[in-house]
Amino acid sequence: MEILEILVAAVWFILPAYVANATPVVLGGGKPIDGGKKFTDGRPIFGPGKTVRGFIAGIIAGSIVGALQAIFGRPGMVTAGFLLSLGALVGDLMGSFIKRRFGLPRGSSAPGLDQLGFLLIAMAFAAPVALPTPEMFVALLIITPILHISTNYCGYLLKLKDRPY
Ligand code: CTP
Ligand code: MG
Repeated sequence: MEILEILVAAVWFILPAYVANATPVVLGGGKPIDGGKKFTDGRPIFGPGKTVRGFIAGIIAGSIVGALQAIFGRPGMVTAGFLLSLGALVGDLMGSFIKRRFGLPRGSSAPGLDQLGFLLIAMAFAAPVALPTPEMFVALLIITPILHISTNYCGYLLKLKDRPY
């Protein structure tokens, strides 16, 4: 496969996870998933940046993308889209859990974890029904941080986020 073909196939494959990850920035807010509770270390479990509405909106938006992809691609993408979306949001939550354990406040940056945590967990969740080729996997490890950092910066310029990362 040509590099461009690999990139297109990789982005098409992971699209539900990307949409699921980005949606809470726009539609999130309200009640935090952890209910404001603290973990045994006295720090927030996930923190106020992880909300119920963002979590649900992300899964719905990503799943809609997967369903639309199924219309143009393979029907199996409905399940894959849902699992990629669920995994992206669970991975994002796990990332925040880890950040809080290291005492990093909500909104702080954790290079690597912020950009790849959601990606790896999304692929792990979808693995039983859909796997990228090794080339697509490597492409996603490279382009996801680039896309994540640039879309976050755009979100900051559009005043959707109050931090550029
Ligand atoms: N968001 C949400 N619900 C989620 C995930 C995200 O409402 N489950 C919203 C929050 O407004 C959050 C924003 O999307 O501030 C950006 O998400 P993210 O960067 O993942 O959260 P941070 O605020 O940076 O918090 P953390 O340090 O825990 O990653
Ligand atoms: Mg953040």
